[in-house]
Amino acid sequence: MKQPKLCIVGSSNMDLVTYAQRLPQLGETVSGTRFQPGFGGKGANQAVMGAKLGAQVTMITKIGDDSFGRDMLQNYKSLNLDTSYVLVTDEASTGVAPIWVEETSGNNAIIVAAGANDLLTPKDIEAAHSAITSAQVLICQWEIPLETTLAALRIARKQNVTTIFNPAPIRSQLPDEAYKLSDIFAPNETETEVLTGLPVGTIEEATVAGQALLARGAGKVILTLGERGSLLVEPTKTTHIPTSVVQAVDTTGAGDSFMGSLSYFFAAGVALPLAIERANHIASISVQSHGTQSSFPTRENLPAHLFE
Ligand code: RIB
Repeated sequence: MKQPKLCIVGSSNMDLVTYAQRLPQLGETVSGTRFQPGFGGKGANQAVMGAKLGAQVTMITKIGDDSFGRDMLQNYKSLNLDTSYVLVTDEASTGVAPIWVEETSGNNAIIVAAGANDLLTPKDIEAAHSAITSAQVLICQWEIPLETTLAALRIARKQNVTTIFNPAPIRSQLPDEAYKLSDIFAPNETETEVLTGLPVGTIEEATVAGQALLARGAGKVILTLGERGSLLVEPTKTTHIPTSVVQAVDTTGAGDSFMGSLSYFFAAGVALPLAIERANHIASISVQSHGTQSSFPTRENLPAHLFE
């Protein structure tokens, strides 16, 4: 399998994860059972997942001139990411994400204080033009300003770099251009429901919602459906790719693990349905241990046949 070259334009956050038997109501205090800080941010997680599988990854992001930012830069370097475009600002602090995880289900609630992520501008992206055009695949999310994401997608499209847009976290409606610039548009269940106003409770419903997104101009749509796996919606057919149900202890970053893995396998030349099956598998491994990036498996911990 050839070594894929990925470029990620997105967020970097320090995740401050607290686990508890149940999440507090407003105004209530509950006792936590465990605290685990770690590296996160949707963009960073997707980049790190790709790198852990063996991709050559360039990360375009903005961090603060503070200790979280310095640790984050070190983390990227230790995983061999190209950090030429990890930009540092003294005008905001590094993004942080206080996260609560309910131990019984592994589900979470997250508040992101974007900080420096909100200061990544279209001008920054223009300056990183060559990093985007020299990649096979560009991956974007919605945890930075939309105009910055669009600037990156436009550059990639002009040079025929494959674009993958994961509209997470969902903020509002997207302009048509965002769909048209996406070779692969990949929302989760909530994002799909907000964007289309349609339910995704059954595979049939999800198919209709996926087709509605396709009609807005995306090349292909991949809906991630949690325990139900993923749905690949193409102009001529729809394929449901189930996943194995596992005991989740922490679902934080599972969607990012999926996106980073999907991008890796796709860029390595694996056909989309199989790339999705493998990404489903890796995401299901990530939910079985605590933490965000720390729960992502590395290539060495995965069966060799996944890389054939
Ligand atoms: O998708 C999980 C991520 O969402 C966390 O790492 C957190 O930083 C938020 O961005």
